[in-house]
Amino acid sequence: MEMTPYQLANNTPLTLSPNFILPEDKRPNLLEVLPSATIPIIDLNDHDTDDGQGPSPLVSKISQACEEYGFFHIINHGVPKELCQKVMAVVTEFFQLPPEVRAQYLTEDHTQQVKVFNYYQKYEGIGKVAMWSETFSHPWHPTEDFTNLLPANPPQYREVFSEYAREIGALMDRLLSLISRGLGLDKECLKKRMGERPGLNCQANYYPPCPKPELTMGLPDHNDLGSIAVLLQVEGVTGLQMIKDGKWLSINPVPNAFVVNLADQIQVLSNGKFKSVGHRAVTNKLLPRLSLGMFYTPSRDTMIGPIEDLIDEEHSPKYRNYSFKDYMDEFYRQEGKRRRVKEAFEFQL
Ligand code: OGA
Ligand code: NI
Repeated sequence: MEMTPYQLANNTPLTLSPNFILPEDKRPNLLEVLPSATIPIIDLNDHDTDDGQGPSPLVSKISQACEEYGFFHIINHGVPKELCQKVMAVVTEFFQLPPEVRAQYLTEDHTQQVKVFNYYQKYEGIGKVAMWSETFSHPWHPTEDFTNLLPANPPQYREVFSEYAREIGALMDRLLSLISRGLGLDKECLKKRMGERPGLNCQANYYPPCPKPELTMGLPDHNDLGSIAVLLQVEGVTGLQMIKDGKWLSINPVPNAFVVNLADQIQVLSNGKFKSVGHRAVTNKLLPRLSLGMFYTPSRDTMIGPIEDLIDEEHSPKYRNYSFKDYMDEFYRQEGKRRRVKEAFEFQL
């Protein structure tokens, strides 16, 4: 991938100016990453018929991964490898467009549906520190034609993306159904809980090589906000990490696999049984890195709260009910900080 790293916001080539440098206590300790642990790799071709004695082997594995990690890889997921390569290629081409073309989409207005932006964090006494990445975000839909919203350049973008969206839509349905069954619920349960018109958006993150990875961050520590994310990352370049037992664990790319992670609403709906886990992306000196996340989010009027079937005398609700709009209002209130959004809806025991 060749591209002159470019800071769009002030139209200058990307150099390690002070506004990228993290305060000392916020820098990633790149040597202190859990060396041996890895997230589970789940084969979607595993045996998946309930025998009346309990969950299928596949559902058991999913449920264990959701409880222990909140992250897992899936293989044999049915999305053609060529299509994954094509979508990564068009997204790469997008980030290779001249800076003035990408800058047409540049905005800090989060209500824009199609946008390029740079993440930042605010630190006391320092102010804003920019993340070493550029993000492109837009809607997707498995069946409706949303492609008029997408860039006309690169020329293949719309066509490739609509095919990818169809495939990911089917995969999302399957994952939501497996996760529902993992909670002992009807297979349609979680999808129904997301409402009739879920918010579907995708986010492509481009991380140029960075001269000082130990001083910078690609994407700050965060929890995802919807239900689940299906992430594709370029092979051979690491960067994604999740927190596990207080330590950072690197999620290295697995060939032909997606990373699946649970977001906050699943933790709340499952009453804390399934985990939405903090994660971040660090930078590296040598290679550009690209990731593409597809997100499935409740509609704003959807009520979210622990599912009644999971509540009994031993399991009292840990969260109060809220509309997803309330969650998003709280999300924007915490702009620039290490957000703790679902925590705002937790019952204090
Ligand atoms: C995200 C995200 C991780 C990555 O887009 O929410 O966590 O590897 N991305 O870029
Ligand atoms: Ni994320």
